[in-house]
Amino acid sequence: MRSVKFTWLLMIFVVLAATLSPRVATSSQSETEKRIGALLARMTLAEKLGQLQQLDGEGNGTFRPEHPDLIREGLLGSTLNVRGAKNTNQLQHVAMDESRLKIPVLFGFDVIHGYRTIFPIPLAEASSWDPASAQRSTSIAAQEARNSGVRWTFAPMLDIARDPRWGRITEGAGEDPFLGAAFARARVRGFQGTDYSAPDKILACAKHWVAYGATEGGRDYNTTDMSENTLREIYFPPFKAAVDAGVGTVMSAFNDLNGVPTSANPFTLTKVLRGEWKFDGFVVSDYTSVKELINHGLAADDPDAARLALNAGVDMEMVSRLFNQRGPELLKEGKISQATIDEAVRRILRIKFRLGLFEHPYTDEARESSSLLTASNRAAARAIADRSMVLLKNERAALPLSKALHSIAVIGPLADDHRSPLGWWSGDGKPEDTVTPLTGIRAKVSPATKVSYAKGCDTQGDSTEGFAEAVAIARDSDVAIVFVGESAEMVGEAASKSSLDLTGRQMDLVKAVHATGKPTIVVLINGRPLTVGWIVENTPAVLEAWMGGTEAGNAIADVLFGDVNPSGKLPVTWPRTVGQVPIYYNHMNTGRPPEANNRYTSKYLDVPWTPLFPFGYGLSYTQFKISNLQLSAPRISSAGKLMVSVDVENVGRRAGDEVVQLYIHDVAASMTRPVKELKGFQRITLAAGEKKRVDFTLEAEQLGFWNREMRFAVESGEFKVMVGPNSEELLEATFTIENQ
Ligand code: BGC
Repeated sequence: MRSVKFTWLLMIFVVLAATLSPRVATSSQSETEKRIGALLARMTLAEKLGQLQQLDGEGNGTFRPEHPDLIREGLLGSTLNVRGAKNTNQLQHVAMDESRLKIPVLFGFDVIHGYRTIFPIPLAEASSWDPASAQRSTSIAAQEARNSGVRWTFAPMLDIARDPRWGRITEGAGEDPFLGAAFARARVRGFQGTDYSAPDKILACAKHWVAYGATEGGRDYNTTDMSENTLREIYFPPFKAAVDAGVGTVMSAFNDLNGVPTSANPFTLTKVLRGEWKFDGFVVSDYTSVKELINHGLAADDPDAARLALNAGVDMEMVSRLFNQRGPELLKEGKISQATIDEAVRRILRIKFRLGLFEHPYTDEARESSSLLTASNRAAARAIADRSMVLLKNERAALPLSKALHSIAVIGPLADDHRSPLGWWSGDGKPEDTVTPLTGIRAKVSPATKVSYAKGCDTQGDSTEGFAEAVAIARDSDVAIVFVGESAEMVGEAASKSSLDLTGRQMDLVKAVHATGKPTIVVLINGRPLTVGWIVENTPAVLEAWMGGTEAGNAIADVLFGDVNPSGKLPVTWPRTVGQVPIYYNHMNTGRPPEANNRYTSKYLDVPWTPLFPFGYGLSYTQFKISNLQLSAPRISSAGKLMVSVDVENVGRRAGDEVVQLYIHDVAASMTRPVKELKGFQRITLAAGEKKRVDFTLEAEQLGFWNREMRFAVESGEFKVMVGPNSEELLEATFTIENQ
């Protein structure tokens, strides 16, 4: 009897909870909409246009002299780069105490991979194939930024990049839409949580919408031109994942897309984003991208640029001031409507309300410094860098090194460089806080080990003056570790390159050290794939350490000396030579797939068609065996699902993580399909000798594509499913989809 009563009570509770919670949400939503309406009714046109304006502060975080006056008049709704609790509070007080309507200012900043504690560059973090790591780093970044007055980050950067010449490949998750979507979700959740008004969260911004990474020739800001199918299947998915995860804002990009620049593109900004995806946050333009519509040749002049961007769906203008300056005349001439302006203001105010900015406009100045770069934040940065490194080669177990070696030569322009591990977007990170590889190695080895250091050369320039010293210390040591790659200014925005070779005399330095006959380990510190075939062929071990953030040096030492078993996998294909670019794993097949002894097949005369390293590749200090691929059924319906399972066994002598990857291929379809598409991955930990069954669930829905009628469809027919440790070494099985 008692249990029956309890069951009834429980049921009543469940029903009440289910019916009440949406009501609570709806009523607070309608409350917000009411407040927005009330504010809008009181705003002058100038004040409305003021909310659409974002202006830049100074690099050091201070605001510009004109900002207080503009804010007092209600003519500036947001800033970028103004940061620090004191600076932001000072400006916010003008808005809250001295302006007519007391609408708080929204402070934005590029918190790309850390605020003060800098984490590995996003491309490195994606190499962990561990979205939880990205969620952790972005949530720490959010906390630090928030304590410094920042309420909004221009991240995550979600551009798929198939071209390593493009310097901004460093900022994203690489070439794959499935991996990109997983990291997009994780990063949005990390920054925003489930409620970005929480005291340790900030608003995120999905950028750059869209296809910015497909820039022709890898030259930044250049034109992109592609089919709608490619756009929807390759470039959209990370953005869709971000919108589904509740991202509050989106940034329109710099690039032209199929003849309509993305900062004035109604198809992407309104039809897809708002119509199809129901995005209800706001869109901010990229830096002066509204004004740049004139250079693109879309807008005739300033008013025209404002008209095109606003009408297409840009709500807030970053840095250029055309909405503000030209809005009144455009309205008078009927070229923009009052409704369009009001809607843009409404979207921005909605986010300001959701952020809790009206209730909590200020930042606690007393908490700021004690919350930055804490020991636990550093520990997280180190753990994430540990997971991000990719072991590219390890002949005859050259690595890990013993901590008790008699002597080690640490060589190279990046061995003791404090700036490069922070990458291009280094937030408020400080080079003096960085643990360099030299420091990390010295802290790791036995006190009896002699560690000598020689820079050898710079990352740029022709001087080989330092070679003699580098060679001498290598000769005197048991082993040489050479740190080469890219310095911070060689990656990121406006850092396109026509060559992916090591710059300056770095390759000659590696050769000179290698010529001593001492075991030469190469560690790469860089933000994009590099063409380092000679190194891979000739040296026994190569570690891709990327730009690993504040704790890079400690993490590198963790891996080199075996406290951490490397487990990263490349999120992007590595070409042998720049002439192979674009080279990516999920390409179409051609009518003449490459064959070794057949000239008339799709390949090059002077270089193999294969990459230096395939997508998904990375080694471990242990070995894994993947076997026994099984499917739950030979056929499924177009609404069904399939279980795919493999055995994964650690057949080596130490514990390690393996990233098991699942790919599919649609064998014959109404449109040609990629030779492989990643549709699942799992990172698992196995003790030495341990064996686990790994199961994937493949939904038929995941096998669909945008067809010739530009409708998403799952077609019947045969599919291959492939599972393995990278995109090349795969077990294979087939199944069919049967449409009823
Ligand atoms: C970049 C954006 C960045 C913005 C603000 C632009 O140049 O393209 O990614 O968020 O500047 O710093």
